[in-house]
Amino acid sequence: MFAGLTPGKRGTVTGHRREEEVQMSVTLERVDGDVVDVLLAQHDQIKRAMARVPALQGAEKAEAFALVTELLERHERGEQQVVHPATRDDVESGGRIAGDRLTEEANADMVMAEMAEMDVDDPMFDVQFTEFRNAVLAHAEREEMEEFPRLRADIPAEELAKMADDLVEAENM
Ligand SMILES: [Fe+2]
Ligand SMILES: [Fe+2]
Repeated sequence: MFAGLTPGKRGTVTGHRREEEVQMSVTLERVDGDVVDVLLAQHDQIKRAMARVPALQGAEKAEAFALVTELLERHERGEQQVVHPATRDDVESGGRIAGDRLTEEANADMVMAEMAEMDVDDPMFDVQFTEFRNAVLAHAEREEMEEFPRLRADIPAEELAKMADDLVEAENM
């Protein structure tokens, strides 16, 4: 686990110049609405967290990257427990869609694990991070374009609302 970051708790990052900003971001977004609304808000949050990394250096950069990792790991865990299984079971051609998304998430996991071993001030980190960020953005876009609209089309609104709670619960486990 990353120093200074504890999943699901606010205020655990200390001695950091941008403490307030980090604290606000450690908890994944929980907006009102159905599971898709929550997922979209979290995608925005993860995009903002990724956008901070390239301009930083040293400890600040390491913390910013650790935050990205934390948010992404928890978001994908929620999707893997709540969202992709619903796609697989309740959406037409959902088996293929869910399978493709799981493969992309497994690839991102491997790249994150490699990058966690790197010095963030190594020029290769930036090269790797750019590639990683582009892959995450492409993955999120495929979810938003291909997967989420079908969930809304094929799953009753009441169930989608309940899935929002299930998602957040899985993310905070
Ligand atoms: Fe995902
Ligand atoms: Fe996602």
